[in-house]
Amino acid sequence: MNKKIEKILNKQIEAEAVSSHLYLAMASWAENSGINGTANFLYLHADEERVHMLKLIKFVNERGGKAVIPAIPAPKQNFESLTDVFSRLLEHELMVTNMINEVVFVCLQEKDYTTHNFMQWYVAEQLEEEALARNILDKLKMIGSDKGGLYLFDRDIESFQVGNKAGAASPK
Ligand code: FEO
Repeated sequence: MNKKIEKILNKQIEAEAVSSHLYLAMASWAENSGINGTANFLYLHADEERVHMLKLIKFVNERGGKAVIPAIPAPKQNFESLTDVFSRLLEHELMVTNMINEVVFVCLQEKDYTTHNFMQWYVAEQLEEEALARNILDKLKMIGSDKGGLYLFDRDIESFQVGNKAGAASPK
């Protein structure tokens, strides 16, 4: 495997691991705050990110590269509100999208069309994840501090689909 591609894919493996860890911390915070629907949504989201990481690990190894399992720093543990959680989540996903775009760019530079093709799944996934996070933030903005609205939000969020089906840990 091209060394430049191997290096940038390993960076992406790390980013997906960091995402999974961050969403796990958010899920745990939500669970401790008694927001159980949101906690379940975020636990599932953390699982999805782990699947994203696994797909990359397998791809690198199957193509003759060496996947590196990264050390992950402890994520933020406390959050101010649901809006705080989902603002950070969107911000994080925007950063991941930039990284994916960089991988795609390097694939074209290196004329690695196989990896370029593989990465298209991630490009589509980022579109979905960003749209979902924006949609959730719009809902939270509409609800404001209305307790009844927040109750319904927490009940309904479990039915929101995370990620596209091909990469889902447990397709719905
Ligand atoms: Fe794996 Fe949320 O990007």
